[in-house]
Amino acid sequence: MIEELEQIQKDALAAIAAVDSETALEDQRVGFLGKKGRLSVAGAGMRDVPKEQKPAVGQKLNEVRTAITEALESKGAEMIAARDAKQFASIDVTLPPRPLPQGGLHPLTQVQDEAIQILRRMGFALADGPEIETAWHCFDALNTPEEHPARNESDTFYFENGKILRTHTSSVQIQTMLKNPPPIRIIAPGSAYRRDEIDATHLPVFTQLEGLYVDTHVTLADLKGTLEYFFREMFGNSIDVRFRPHFFPFTEPSFEVDLKLQVKGKSDKWIEIAGCGIVDPNVFIEVDGKRKQPAYNPDEVSGFAFGMGIERLAMIKYEISDIRHLIDNDTRFLSQFR
Ligand code: PHE
Repeated sequence: MIEELEQIQKDALAAIAAVDSETALEDQRVGFLGKKGRLSVAGAGMRDVPKEQKPAVGQKLNEVRTAITEALESKGAEMIAARDAKQFASIDVTLPPRPLPQGGLHPLTQVQDEAIQILRRMGFALADGPEIETAWHCFDALNTPEEHPARNESDTFYFENGKILRTHTSSVQIQTMLKNPPPIRIIAPGSAYRRDEIDATHLPVFTQLEGLYVDTHVTLADLKGTLEYFFREMFGNSIDVRFRPHFFPFTEPSFEVDLKLQVKGKSDKWIEIAGCGIVDPNVFIEVDGKRKQPAYNPDEVSGFAFGMGIERLAMIKYEISDIRHLIDNDTRFLSQFR
């Protein structure tokens, strides 16, 4: 029986060495180690082996099984390695990868972030208020009487309950002064809504950045210095800034600020970027009337306020000639600002 087992081992190792496919290897495994395989059949002969030879034969049987199993395993590993090597050989690792589409911040977000950073360095803190506002916050408290054209049905979006979509972020001036006593130095970026026709410089939904500074002895010089510094930080020292006398109900005196828009191939044009002025005493009086503890006595405090359009800042910064590009969501346009 020992010789028979040795013969089986010899045959098995030779057969395994000669195999040239993974299926042929599996056939050999079944042929030798399977239930009806040669080694299993031989192993069944154990019961006829005389008792005193059993240990030696049993040990041989185990040795042969181990040898065949190891041969099968190493041949299998060899074949898998060869298959992998063949597959890798056909991959060109020097090929450039397919580019992944890359996103980025919208130019409006970038400009707004930059504006906020500049103003925060000057000590302005972020504030906000609701976009759906009462007419009182948006108009009355801002010294804008019932008959003012901005309050017309044709200029403002009204809800049935009398609330409105805020026409400017100046309502946040009121929200802030109701909640906090002076001194106040805040900026409030956010959406504003007007029933404007869409054209190259107007959208019915746009973004403003409001500013309010209230303290003792705030003057027009502070306002002018703050805004000029802001625009130079934003656009560089060569930007042209122009203050034009204007009228707003909630500031006196009031100004509009223009910046020169220079787009290659087009003639220069002044573009209105902000409204501003010295807070009208009537605003302080109206706010104080609503506060539990009056704090805005116009004889003691003064302030300046400004509101600028973020879309227009972006247009000047990136030389965009049409505001509509900013809402088209065309990646050919947007990908230029990554
Ligand atoms: N709210 C004004 C507008 O939307 C801008 C402004 C803000 C003017 C603050 C003066 C002071 O046109």
